Amino acid sequence: MQIINSIVHMQALAIAPERGGRRITFVPTMGFLHEGHASLLREGRTRGDVLVLSIFVNPIQFGKNEDLDRYPRDMERDCQLADACGVDIVFIPTVAEMYPQGFQTGVTVRDIALPLCGASRPGHFDGVATVVAKLFNIVRPDVALFGCKDYQQLAVIRTMTADLNMPVEIVGMPIVREADGVAMSSRNAYLSASERQSALCLIQAIKRARGLYAAGERSTSVLIREARAVIEQETAAVVDYVECRNGETLHESDLADGGTLLALAVKIGQTRLIDNTVFGEEL
Ligand code: PAF
Repeated sequence: MQIINSIVHMQALAIAPERGGRRITFVPTMGFLHEGHASLLREGRTRGDVLVLSIFVNPIQFGKNEDLDRYPRDMERDCQLADACGVDIVFIPTVAEMYPQGFQTGVTVRDIALPLCGASRPGHFDGVATVVAKLFNIVRPDVALFGCKDYQQLAVIRTMTADLNMPVEIVGMPIVREADGVAMSSRNAYLSASERQSALCLIQAIKRARGLYAAGERSTSVLIREARAVIEQETAAVVDYVECRNGETLHESDLADGGTLLALAVKIGQTRLIDNTVFGEEL
């Protein structure tokens, strides 16, 4: 496994004639890898010849009062996990090289980036779209894999890729959950033991709404109200949003169907967690 820090070096490998017809599969991450990332890497391994993982805590996707400075990092453990998953190249650029003095270009995806996390975290998806566009230009992947836990992020990246005719196939992978149902996230590392217990309210809310949907309930306002009520029973939890949206367009609708997304963002203490489900899909 090769570790590359320089953009020029990474780009040179990606466009070198030696690449021949070899397919590059790519998993962009901010590191502190967990089993969710491992599932992307294992799938990536089967879809191409050269598997590239990037680790870059992207400052421009964090708001002023967010957790950029304390975002968890463990490069040594990440590299061990990458190696075990069959990664060929780990690309770890520096902030100074990604955003040199004078950097002034950004990618904005409009409508689909506005609701949900886009409303709670203004500018977040500009930062995500810009860094992913840069990473695609550096790594030149044929296929890139993203987790569905960040459902709106995946929708934003699919839209950007289609709108800008980027020759990359985008693959969304199912949410990986802990045994008790809590969605895996690098930010779970922030939770104290009691907060980790409180974090169960997200999956409990999802299960409540899915149960009602399975029993025939189709009113999105009822599904939202019931999911919200579960979270509000948990004293350590503060709802940021609980919303039902069309799973493709992210538009609101009064009636749920199999393609409807239920998306949640909840603060447990200082930690903001997100989770989601699509009613017609497996949990
Ligand atoms: O999902 C993430 O880890 C990040 O948002 C991404 C896609 C690597 C961009 O920084």
